[in-house]
Amino acid sequence: MKANASSAYPSAPAGAGLNAAVERYYDTTLDLYEDLWGEHVHHGFWDVGERPGSDAERQAATDRLVRELVAFAGLDRLPAGARVLDVGCGIGGPALHLAGPLGCVVEGVTLSAAQAARANEKAAAAGVADRAHFHQRDALANGFPDGSFDAVWALESLMHIADRTAFFAEAMRVLRPGGVLAIGTWSVRDGELNAEEHKVVDQILRHQVMPSFSSLEEHERLAVAAGFTEVAFTDWSANVANSWEPGFAQVRELDNGRSMMRDLARDRGVDVLGFFYAGPLMLKGFATGAVTYGAVRATKPSAATGAAEPAAAAGAAEPAGDRPA
Ligand SMILES: C[S@@+](CC[C@H](N)C(=O)[O-])C[C@H]1O[C@@H](n2cnc3c(N)ncnc32)[C@H](O)[C@@H]1O
Repeated sequence: MKANASSAYPSAPAGAGLNAAVERYYDTTLDLYEDLWGEHVHHGFWDVGERPGSDAERQAATDRLVRELVAFAGLDRLPAGARVLDVGCGIGGPALHLAGPLGCVVEGVTLSAAQAARANEKAAAAGVADRAHFHQRDALANGFPDGSFDAVWALESLMHIADRTAFFAEAMRVLRPGGVLAIGTWSVRDGELNAEEHKVVDQILRHQVMPSFSSLEEHERLAVAAGFTEVAFTDWSANVANSWEPGFAQVRELDNGRSMMRDLARDRGVDVLGFFYAGPLMLKGFATGAVTYGAVRATKPSAATGAAEPAAAAGAAEPAGDRPA
């Protein structure tokens, strides 16, 4: 089985059914993620060999992953007021960093209305509601004008999007010339997976409502094919795999919390259980080397005639379509 073909592991429902399933998953797990991981719905980042410690250290690790991606993509060089599209914004944890310390203006999109509402609440509480707006909207039909962003940020959302060619085309469309694409994503090892690895990967996809994984090399190929330049990726598997250690990822709930899980499944639907299955499956996936994780950066070529005018300075238009959730 070829790991890097985006259709290699068809697990979650396709088409409109996929988006509805992703929306339902994040609507029904919002409080579980927030209780456990705080405002970040993504891995933590540690030095290789470092282990998760106290709750505060774990929170610091998820903050750190955001800073690592900012640095890898060079977004720390963006001027204050730069416009960033956050594709798959969750409850706004990363966006609050981009809008707060970095002073960017962030438009976040998520399929989950509950997440968008929570993210807007958190932006207001953090005093950045004027710079961070969150919408319930599909990343591939986001309604923003051409060339209206200085950066597109997609942290752990691309695994949920079946048509990654369309994702890169859409990022290219909304970026201004010279704009930067920054991706952090779950991925798979490039090349063949054996039957056992395939089984683990397939279970992860099913429980996490993801249609397929691509390898980091495949992301690079797709970015180049879409016309991006300065494309690079880095493998952070050894930095993030600790995220699934018992204690951090609540893996022990599988042993101790069966009645709680039964109640949740009854009240919210059985898909909510994917939240609990992720830990042991991801530990296994990383241990076998089949599951990987990395960051990708890419740049939209500057216009031939000079000026790559910042989208902020160009007075980028407000999105067509809905109001912020
Ligand atoms: C694992 S969470 C990551 C959230 C956030 N980026 C973070 O790091 O905290 C995945 C997010 O991707 C969003 N997502 C998945 N597919 C999407 C799509 N087609 N359009 C918009 N958002 C999408 C989900 O709604 C969810 O907010």
